[in-house]
Amino acid sequence: IPVETFDLVIFGATGDLARRKILPGLYRRYLAGQVPPDSRIIGAARSAMDKAGFQALVREAIEEFVAADKRDPAAIADFTDRLDYVAIDAKGQEGWPALAAMMRQGAVRAFYFSVAPSLFGDLAERLHLHGIADVDSRIVVEKPFGRDLATARALNDTLATHFAEHQIYRIDHYLGKETVQNLMAVRFANILFEPLWNSQFIDHVQITVAETVGVEGRGAYYDKSGAMRDMVQNHMMQLLCLIAMEPPFHFDPDTVRDEKLKVIRALQPVPAEDIVRGQYLATAGAPGYLADAENPDSRTESYIALKVHVANWRWKGTPFYLRTGKKLRARASEIAITFKEPPHSIFDDASGWRENVLVIRLQPNEGMNLKVMIKEPGPGGMRLTQVPLDMSFTEAFGDEGTDMPDAYERLIMDVIRGNQTLFMRGDEVEAAWAWTDPIIQGWEARGDRPKGYDAGSSGPEDALMLMHRDGRRWREIKA
Ligand code: BG6
Repeated sequence: IPVETFDLVIFGATGDLARRKILPGLYRRYLAGQVPPDSRIIGAARSAMDKAGFQALVREAIEEFVAADKRDPAAIADFTDRLDYVAIDAKGQEGWPALAAMMRQGAVRAFYFSVAPSLFGDLAERLHLHGIADVDSRIVVEKPFGRDLATARALNDTLATHFAEHQIYRIDHYLGKETVQNLMAVRFANILFEPLWNSQFIDHVQITVAETVGVEGRGAYYDKSGAMRDMVQNHMMQLLCLIAMEPPFHFDPDTVRDEKLKVIRALQPVPAEDIVRGQYLATAGAPGYLADAENPDSRTESYIALKVHVANWRWKGTPFYLRTGKKLRARASEIAITFKEPPHSIFDDASGWRENVLVIRLQPNEGMNLKVMIKEPGPGGMRLTQVPLDMSFTEAFGDEGTDMPDAYERLIMDVIRGNQTLFMRGDEVEAAWAWTDPIIQGWEARGDRPKGYDAGSSGPEDALMLMHRDGRRWREIKA
């Protein structure tokens, strides 16, 4: 889809996210022909820097974060020609008239708030005061979008003072991942799955986001957040919505988001016995969570597992088991949908029957895998065996499968194109917090302490029990 000429202003352009993700991503989109020649990317930050200084910073970011085979000096020079910079005071007046003078008529205007949420209001206000934003301008805001319902509401109210909902793009980078969007294609472009997609045929769903990294270096943020706020309220909630939602009648932003919102509103409160929280322990070679977070008394969880119910006709009786954590055995994110037994078996108990499982892998090795039963080849009688119908994207699409745009790149281009489908609406974020808040308040009131787990393990022992109790088992965490 062609992209219109744009002026993209990145507030916080010298920060970590801009350097690691946004700017290298824009360079890769440039290589793909999606940054039209007269488009501009304007860095705006506190640092007193000029255009040449910013161009140098972006060249370094490209050197560091873009694959070597894409770093063509001529292309980098052409790309950095499209950059500009303005030193700006988010809370004062400095820099704003200069920014106003840079904006051009006729180009799409987008403003990326890659700054602390406490500055959102100041930026939004000044964009208006100086006539920099017009009625078609878009703003992009990063997580964390609040830390509970009250703060999320306050943020929404602040933004709403200056921007209409259709101008606000709340990023959840999980929605930019290839497989996540594929979930919608698989469900709604095939007749095969949807008739079985309910509690009559699905035994349970497991959603796993396992990471090998710890919280070293970002303890100050993480310790005030924890896995529930950092991963479950947003990324895992979005995955759950895409699995559980009703088919939207049309593929447009509000229809899709209406359906996701209904799922969030149907989530049941989670009782204490269905929650397991953990903290990774120190090992011989590496500090544990408490040291990484620089808080010896911390009760913040670096791991959480919970059993969730979606209270509606489709899902009554099918639990969703969610787990996510740091310093686990492998980096592996997947959704596994386990189907029920056939209503009547004509094979005997020793036949080797196992459930059908549809595994949707987010990372690494993106793809899908449907486990089906067949007869074991050979003359040994009717012995069953499970084989995977495997669709790995790299195998199916070769280089195109490995060379897919990063989540951020894709989402930034959606902003320029004006497509909000993969962004969270204000009411969605608030509903997600409304479900999250009582869960967190519950463990705070009880004074629960997270259980220790070994770095490199698959999480606390209690998490195994969460499923064993129900006669089920977590899938192994492996890359
Ligand atoms: C971020 C969280 O939103 O997502 C991090 O703040 C987490 O704690 C990261 O590590 C995971 O993203 P990805 O794309 O690496 O799975």
